[in-house]
Amino acid sequence: MTVQEITEQLGELRERALRDVAEADDPAALREVEVAYLGKKGQLKSILDAIGGLPAEDRPRVGAAGNEIKTAVLEAMERRRRRLEGIALEVRLAAEREDVTLPGRPLHRGSLHPLIETNREIARVLGQFGFVTYETPEVETDELNFQALNIPEDHPARDLWDTLYVTPPEAAPRDPAGGPTYLLRTHTSPGQIHVMRTVQPPIRALLPGRCFRYEAVDASHAFEFFQMEGLMVDEGTTLADLRGVLDEFGHALFGADRPTRFRPGYYPFTEPSVAFDVRCIVCEGEGCATCKRTGWFTLLGGGMVHPVVLRNGGLDPERYQGFAFGMGTDRIAMVRHGISDIRLFLENDLRFLEQL
Ligand code: DAH
Repeated sequence: MTVQEITEQLGELRERALRDVAEADDPAALREVEVAYLGKKGQLKSILDAIGGLPAEDRPRVGAAGNEIKTAVLEAMERRRRRLEGIALEVRLAAEREDVTLPGRPLHRGSLHPLIETNREIARVLGQFGFVTYETPEVETDELNFQALNIPEDHPARDLWDTLYVTPPEAAPRDPAGGPTYLLRTHTSPGQIHVMRTVQPPIRALLPGRCFRYEAVDASHAFEFFQMEGLMVDEGTTLADLRGVLDEFGHALFGADRPTRFRPGYYPFTEPSVAFDVRCIVCEGEGCATCKRTGWFTLLGGGMVHPVVLRNGGLDPERYQGFAFGMGTDRIAMVRHGISDIRLFLENDLRFLEQL
């Protein structure tokens, strides 16, 4: 081939290559163009191979022309690549536009378990009277759960509590080896002794916690349930103080207009003992299953701390008086939330919990 022919072919190749670059409409097509023109077996190479047949003085000029074409095509390809990327981005942006009308993904928010919520509400109300919450043990000794509370071993009141023993049954209720008999507390009242032995009066204590009794389980009895104990000890504390605090408490929890009443009760660890009722929340006094047709809902039992109990707590009953009360928080949570079965509290069924 002559210089003339090679130059013509190069010119023609340049034009075709640039046109193909301009027409490539995706990165793959662009790569094909590159291989076809500039690759090892590409068209430019095969034209330049002919340079060898030219007179020596013509070779550099033709070679330079070949290089110029290569550079021009590479630059055009780079511009085209950027342009294609820009187009691809625009297409994506158009297709993926945010639809602000789509409903959001629901955020799963937890909520307080009804027992926790009720405990906190009780602690909040009584906290306004200066009551402070303490934690006391779930595993107790027979001594603190019963004897220190003025419930001796052969006292008929023990029949009130069907006890679950931790100490092996053959050793219960008295370990013959003389060690303490351990049991799962049947009420939060032994916490009173812990508090009296560790906190100096004036005492205003709330003792929430899990209690255990060997019960036949049904909609209103569980062998694991919750109580909240209250204890106030000071010089000159009277039954009127108990009445005043409980009235405020009942009104805060169930409405300011709700009638309340004190009735005589019996507990070995209080003297006198009372039951505190509020007008039934479910039937408003008409009589229903919740209030056993009495029209009154018993919120708690309480009374003036028995002098023997004060003494067992290390306090001088001549100097200090106190009142105590204890309530079943499951029952209170049930009437607050309109729940009819106590077992629901411990089953952790989300279909139940999520409604609250
Ligand atoms: N411990 C009692 C029970 O489990 C409840 C109770 C009654 C607690 C009277 C008290 C009280 O502190 O004074 O049934």
